[in-house]
Amino acid sequence: MTIDFLKKELSNILSKKRYDHSIRVLETALTLGKIYDGDLNKISTAALLHDYAKEFKREDLIKIAKEHFLSETEDYLENIEILHSYASAYIAKEIFKITDTEILSAIKYHTTGRKNMSLTEKIVYIADAIEPKRDYPHVEKIRDLALVNLNKAILLEVNKKIEYLVKGEFIIHINSIEMRNWLLKIS
Ligand SMILES: [Fe+2]
Ligand SMILES: [Fe+2]
Repeated sequence: MTIDFLKKELSNILSKKRYDHSIRVLETALTLGKIYDGDLNKISTAALLHDYAKEFKREDLIKIAKEHFLSETEDYLENIEILHSYASAYIAKEIFKITDTEILSAIKYHTTGRKNMSLTEKIVYIADAIEPKRDYPHVEKIRDLALVNLNKAILLEVNKKIEYLVKGEFIIHINSIEMRNWLLKIS
């Protein structure tokens, strides 16, 4: 499956805004993939498909989560922001017939992260958070850090994300907390 084919498929399903975001994530992920000597094929595929289901209807996201990822999503079924990652991974597997677990995990955990992430997972996770149009407090610092120390960049990003979620009294996915604790230990 070529990158051009995936781009075409994406452009058919996503709004221009979301499509353009996906392309920026792809480009950012490729930059990082080259720096960290990642598998550019896996990184490209995961980066392109990470938000495939972002604009799915709420009920479809909940249906896919309940039917295919219940144990991981049952506490988060109200949270569409988390569910679209699982639905995108489902589509990658069922529609695009992707079997590579690293690609599928990079899509599935791009919102929450998780402990013990592979290089591909880390790159897609942080590329999504720092693509050039992202604009939130500390993004510049996270962007700079990502070029020299991926773990520290993700740690700073998740710390800031957790602060934001606490302030807003939003739910925090357990995977994000586990990822933070893991990164604290290893970085
Ligand atoms: Fe996403
Ligand atoms: Fe995204």
